Amino acid sequence: MAADRAASPSMFSPVSTPAFQIREIAFFVIGIAAAIFLVVGGFTAYAIARYRRRGAGPAAEPPQVYGSTRIELAWTVVPLLIVVVLFLVTARYIWGIERRAQPAGSLEITVVGHQWWWEVRYPALGIVTANQIHLPVSDPDRPAPIFITLQSVDVVHSFWVPQLAGKMDVIPNKTNRVWVEPLVPGTFVGQCAEYCGLQHALMLLTVVVHPREEFARWAAAQQLPARDDVAARAGRELFASLACINCHTIRGTPANGVFGPDLTHLMSRATIGAGAAPNTARHLRAWIDNPAAIKSGALMPAMKLSQDEVDKLTAYLVTLR
Ligand code: CUA
Repeated sequence: MAADRAASPSMFSPVSTPAFQIREIAFFVIGIAAAIFLVVGGFTAYAIARYRRRGAGPAAEPPQVYGSTRIELAWTVVPLLIVVVLFLVTARYIWGIERRAQPAGSLEITVVGHQWWWEVRYPALGIVTANQIHLPVSDPDRPAPIFITLQSVDVVHSFWVPQLAGKMDVIPNKTNRVWVEPLVPGTFVGQCAEYCGLQHALMLLTVVVHPREEFARWAAAQQLPARDDVAARAGRELFASLACINCHTIRGTPANGVFGPDLTHLMSRATIGAGAAPNTARHLRAWIDNPAAIKSGALMPAMKLSQDEVDKLTAYLVTLR
């Protein structure tokens, strides 16, 4: 079931509480718009059929009405009422979603927009990852909202996972918040929804919702420092000797940069470059060799390494599970 839903990243197949409300109000607005369309279209079709030119003679004009207060009132007051109703209903939904209280002990995460990837932090768990958010499923009988704090280090992005919650802008020097309450496990896709530069279209996001025990296992694995695989020592030392460490963190090594994604558990993620390529050894090697070949404009530079060095780094990075 979860896989089917993930196949359609649509706001019309919600799996989380605020997304249900958003679908409700979307249907309400579409319903009103459809009713207006039917009334206007119906009158238009009627007028076309009723007053079309018949035969060869001059067309008879329909009766012309000038200055009818009743008609003018009708086409002023009725749209005004429709707008007021749409406004009040929307305000009620927004208010309902925004005032959701945060129960003590609820999971809080921080998502930071970067050109062009997402940094994902779990402050209480000491986890930092990227582009792939892992969350525990919520029990419908004991709903546990997860609060997401949104920040940006550069330009305006927008956080949108349609099946989980509405869009929320991610704005530099301003903190926005959204909450989600996923009710089924599965993988749900999202996307930056605010044009933010060259690779806006490759600023993808996945949310993996786990059963609770599985989430606990994922978190425990993420909390471990990076593996120190003896077979990959050459690559590990090379990494530590290069400028890589100024931008990337690998916990348990001298690498502690924060400009690029944390690589401590790089291979636990499905993609490279926020969805630019699958995270396989082959793609990883190509990415290290020249990121721009996979994601033009990516802020990670090609490091001008020898092919042997690229091989060593790849052999090391694929051990970071
Ligand atoms: Cu970030 Cu568009």
